[in-house]
Amino acid sequence: MIIEVLTIFPDFFKSPLDAGVIRRAIDAGLLEFRALDLRDYTHDRHRTTDDRPFGGGEGMVMVPGPIFEAVDDLRSCEPQPFVVMLSPRGRLLDQEIARELASEKRLVFLCGRYEGIDERVARGCVDMELSIGDYVLSGGETAALVAMEVITRFVPGVLGCGTSAENDSFTTGLLEHPQYTRPREFRGMKVPEVLLGGNHKEIAAWRRSEALRITAQRRPDLLKKAELTDDERRIVKDYLEVDSEHSV
Ligand code: ADE
Repeated sequence: MIIEVLTIFPDFFKSPLDAGVIRRAIDAGLLEFRALDLRDYTHDRHRTTDDRPFGGGEGMVMVPGPIFEAVDDLRSCEPQPFVVMLSPRGRLLDQEIARELASEKRLVFLCGRYEGIDERVARGCVDMELSIGDYVLSGGETAALVAMEVITRFVPGVLGCGTSAENDSFTTGLLEHPQYTRPREFRGMKVPEVLLGGNHKEIAAWRRSEALRITAQRRPDLLKKAELTDDERRIVKDYLEVDSEHSV
């Protein structure tokens, strides 16, 4: 997969991409990454990428010219890119969208700064607007990093053999069960007995029931979409009832 980012801060991406899963994916040839400077597509002495908003108001707006030129340039070579503009008004990023985007051969992330981007960019040059949450960042760069990390986890091979983002929290529809490692007892807190016994069936059942409990307690909204058996629905209902008794 190829990911290109259009930004006025290409250096922003240097150190975050130099470690961890993404670095390994790049080294393994599974991911090709380029940060492109939008200012390289300007034609004035000051390399201007923003201007005052028509109609007045605070702040500056990114001008459409350099962005269209950059995207035209990227579209002039194969494979054709899917162009995503990071914006708080976009589709909310979740595991489903990440999986969808991971199937693209080439993604371009367009990062805005200032108060916004001239609306003609959204109308004429992007395929999708994407938000990473209901809050406002100072620019799309951090959002692009988050999106890249979530998406690349779905690219086959990126997580190493046998591991898959398909088993992650949210993909399964539930939050993750708790994990323990050594020591068996730490500051008076013991590892649950069932995990020490080596009975894989019992361990799997415990993990599933803990995932149900934690999801019911912390994110009951997720349960609507989760695939549960009738028994599991009853267990979850009990958790929800106990919680609502405590909260009154
Ligand atoms: N740019 C500013 N805020 C953003 C957000 N929440 N998601 C994506 N891009 C953004």
